[in-house]
Amino acid sequence: MTQTRARKIIGIVSGKGGVGKTFISVNLAAALAEAGCRTLVFDADLGLANVDLQLGLDISTSVSDFLMGNCEFSKLIQRADRIGCDVVSGRSAITALTNSTEYERSKLKTALLETAGSYDYVLIDMPAGIDGNVTDFFDICDALYVVLRADPTSLMDAYALMKVTPSRLRQRVFIIANAVTNSSDAKDLAVNFSAVTDKFLSFNPGFLGGVRADRNVEISIRRQLPVYAAAPQSHAAADIRSLARRVLS
Ligand SMILES: Nc1ncnc2c1ncn2[C@@H]1O[C@H](COP(=O)(O)OP(=O)(O)OP(=O)(O)O)[C@@H](O)[C@H]1O
Ligand SMILES: [Mg+2]
Repeated sequence: MTQTRARKIIGIVSGKGGVGKTFISVNLAAALAEAGCRTLVFDADLGLANVDLQLGLDISTSVSDFLMGNCEFSKLIQRADRIGCDVVSGRSAITALTNSTEYERSKLKTALLETAGSYDYVLIDMPAGIDGNVTDFFDICDALYVVLRADPTSLMDAYALMKVTPSRLRQRVFIIANAVTNSSDAKDLAVNFSAVTDKFLSFNPGFLGGVRADRNVEISIRRQLPVYAAAPQSHAAADIRSLARRVLS
């Protein structure tokens, strides 16, 4: 593999599905781009890819074309003008790659590492789950942002994911508390989760911040726009911008 690396390759993970990984990946990428960073979003959810849907992108060349050797990885990179970032969609033209093989994921990782040198940040929007579809990407990640919601299943599944996170990366896990009521709830969620990882796994994740529950999130997804464009004055837009400031600090 080449030595060219992005400053940060960040895996956005959760364990549990539907907690906001894709929303946060797309919107954090938009906020980082707004701050002048060259940013790539890689949709690693090859089974249920939906980064393209959240951005209204038409996929002309699909990831399966690359995996079958019919095109270079660079052909998968699309400009998403709505967020000022490049995007690689995980969508396949024919059938969803629900069960990508280890070999296919290895091919994607090599290509991503080579491509990462052209960017300041690469955000990997991971699928739900704790299996190889997620963990195989860990060895190219410089950090994991774990998206939590305040329900027991979200916390249990995120904890299960932490158990299979290698110790090298455990030092660089940061919590994003999503759909919270306010900043104090976000902090409580992070403190409670950290208490469990501290007790049973002997490490404390960092806390990146919270994103409040906000109906503008759903509206922005329906309009296929970043929330700061769909609802500039919204709580969610303000919270995403603060997250980006924490990433950059
Ligand atoms: N802060 C928020 N406030 C309100 N609704 C939210 C918020 N974050 C996410 N949502 C809602 O949660 C839904 C799921 O979000 P998203 O698709 O980003 O989750 P995901 O973790 O990527 O799911 P999957 O595991 O299926 O990939 C969205 O359709 C959105 O409406
Ligand atoms: Mg998703």
